[in-house]
Amino acid sequence: MADLDDLREGSRFGIGTPVAKQDPFYVKGAENLSWGAKHRLSRIFNPKSGRAVMLAFDHGFIMGPTSGVERIDLNIAPLMQYADCLMCTRGILRTSVSPTLNKPICMRSDAGTSILTKLNDNVIIDIEDAIRLDVSAMAVMVAMGDPDTEATTVANLYRLADQGHKYGIPVMGVTAVGKDMARDSRYFCLASRVCAENGASIVKTYYCEGFANVVACTPVPIVIAGGKKLPERDALELCYKAINDGAAGVDMGRNVFQSECPVAMIQAVSALLHENLSVDEAFSMYNDLRNDATK
Ligand code: R5P
Repeated sequence: MADLDDLREGSRFGIGTPVAKQDPFYVKGAENLSWGAKHRLSRIFNPKSGRAVMLAFDHGFIMGPTSGVERIDLNIAPLMQYADCLMCTRGILRTSVSPTLNKPICMRSDAGTSILTKLNDNVIIDIEDAIRLDVSAMAVMVAMGDPDTEATTVANLYRLADQGHKYGIPVMGVTAVGKDMARDSRYFCLASRVCAENGASIVKTYYCEGFANVVACTPVPIVIAGGKKLPERDALELCYKAINDGAAGVDMGRNVFQSECPVAMIQAVSALLHENLSVDEAFSMYNDLRNDATK
């Protein structure tokens, strides 16, 4: 029972003062989502810049311990503090990410086949586990154009979005590009739009020529995957071009954790996104931090 001693009657009712207006919600396409979903999105996308640096280290769920993710505690843990959001599986979250870190999690929420057989024959997580883990978003693969898994993966997104909307957890559609698929804006426009139309609140896709069209036709924020490892300056240029064309962020793995200096790379990417650094400025920051780290 609260202490009732000296309980004072309220007097500051602001009669005549209109109710304070709230700004429209800043995340693209999210105005009509629930409070919980907006709260989670605002943990991922920085409210000042509107952008997000997501650190992806879910690669092991299909590839095992590939270069850079052999030891999450050694290779990835030192980078986590610099990311706006961590993208990983529930196995890595429970075993290797401290719950005291206080970073939003975009959890890889589908699983099935690995690179040893055929990819994307997946099922989705039980939503109760996502709730237990207090994740801020759930990521699901969508294999547009793959005759074997397109229908299953779109259905996975659809079902996960149903569950996510019920509990205020946004879903991120991850476009999986088959080996034979043209990586052009026509394909990425279609794949990203299908994800958004079927319930994704974020779409993760790849940068391409004509990327501005992909952003324009997709009514939710787009984050780009980094893809295969590039020289650091090229990776920063990729981020710059994507942001310049309207991407809301990056969800990058190999170009960070396979960098010669991952801790410098993630800080340079973050400054490029949030402080609008040019490619040259970001690369120079990377070099300075790398030199400091190797002293
Ligand atoms: C792809 O489905 C994986 O989930 C990765 O998270 C994604 O490809 C991003 O990693 P990277 O920047 O290494 O391509």
